[in-house]
Amino acid sequence: MLIVLAWLLFCTTATQKTSCDHLETGTCHKISNSGADKSCQNTYVRSDGPKTHHCSAMDEDKVKQHQHQLYKSDPRFRGVYSFPVDPIPRRNCFDEEAIQFLQEGLPVVLDNCTFYSSALKWTIDYLTENLQDEDHTAYISHTRTFLYYDEDVIKGAYKDWTPPTTKRLLYFSNFTRLLKELERADNGSRAYFQSLLFLQEGVSSSMLEDIDTFNYTWLLDTVRRVNWGEDVTNMLLVGMPDVVTPAHYDILENLYVQIFGRKRVILFSPDHFRYLYPHPIGHPHDRQTQVDFDNPDLNKFPRFGEIRGMEVALEPGQVLYIPTYWWHYIESEMYR
Ligand SMILES: *[C@@H]1O[C@H](CO)[C@@H](O)[C@H](O)[C@H]1NC(C)=O
Ligand SMILES: *[C@@H]1O[C@H](CO)[C@@H](O)[C@H](O)[C@H]1NC(C)=O
Ligand SMILES: *[C@@H]1O[C@H](CO)[C@@H](O)[C@H](O)[C@H]1NC(C)=O
Ligand SMILES: *[C@@H]1O[C@H](CO)[C@@H](O)[C@H](O)[C@H]1NC(C)=O
Repeated sequence: MLIVLAWLLFCTTATQKTSCDHLETGTCHKISNSGADKSCQNTYVRSDGPKTHHCSAMDEDKVKQHQHQLYKSDPRFRGVYSFPVDPIPRRNCFDEEAIQFLQEGLPVVLDNCTFYSSALKWTIDYLTENLQDEDHTAYISHTRTFLYYDEDVIKGAYKDWTPPTTKRLLYFSNFTRLLKELERADNGSRAYFQSLLFLQEGVSSSMLEDIDTFNYTWLLDTVRRVNWGEDVTNMLLVGMPDVVTPAHYDILENLYVQIFGRKRVILFSPDHFRYLYPHPIGHPHDRQTQVDFDNPDLNKFPRFGEIRGMEVALEPGQVLYIPTYWWHYIESEMYR
């Protein structure tokens, strides 16, 4: 079982820019990042402001065709996708029905869980204080996308293959410094802290104690009932606003705890395998989809046109159960 503790880190407040030609209310003209002209990449639409915008150099035919199928998109997130989604069911953590979802391997959003409450004091200062080791991992991407790759494969059969992101080993303090640097540079590059906590030597005893004082009463009782085995891996994710983890599946039961900021998660059931065209087995991107959601190539991946997802905008304090083999796409909001 994997417990993910997810943070969204906002370094500065004034990250909004409107370099687009004009903002207007009315019909939504934005279909995807790739459908928009380049300057639109830097256009943010505030949830309390105009909900839609129009960018000059867009293919109007393509827009009309997509408008047709658009579901109501959430303006807090940049991605606008044409496939249908259903809401992920929500239950109280202590509800007997919640356990049934876990037993049946079906996704559920859990409200009011308390097992992670010792992690609620993990402010940025606390993390800086307690993650002082060069071995923590962050990735740097020159786009908003962080596509996972298997390093061991690159060392072997894929020696000449170039990874889409750069891995850095660092202290948490170096990471926050890097974020400030990237915000200043404002050139589209982004960083994502993704570190396993139990395996880390650089996790302070006080932080390990926080993990040890997770409310295992609920967790272990539940895990025993649903037969997951008692191996627990803890992972800490600290992302920037407006970053994307492309759709992939894991071979782990995942309890995804959203601690700060909001994330949109879109799930696809395991029987969507044939619609999502994973990279070949043994490829560095094994288990990751080949389809670029922002610009799907339907000639190459025609069945992508038939997918149907389940979606939630996770609020701080909510836990999402992502069952083994379920595909997940995760996107962080653009604003606080
Ligand atoms: C969850 O907690 C909130 C805030 O404490 C409370 O208002 C709400 O009723 C709780 N939800 C359920 C389903 O118990
Ligand atoms: C990380 O920060 C520490 C001090 O906080 C510094 O000694 C070290 O050189 C930095 N490492 C990198 C890779 O920047
Ligand atoms: C953006 O700026 C950062 C910090 O100066 C730099 O490390 C990065 O390589 C730059 N990205 C691009 C795409 O130039
Ligand atoms: C741990 O969870 C149990 C329910 O399983 C609850 O009764 C108890 O109060 C919780 N303990 C803490 C310290 O939150």
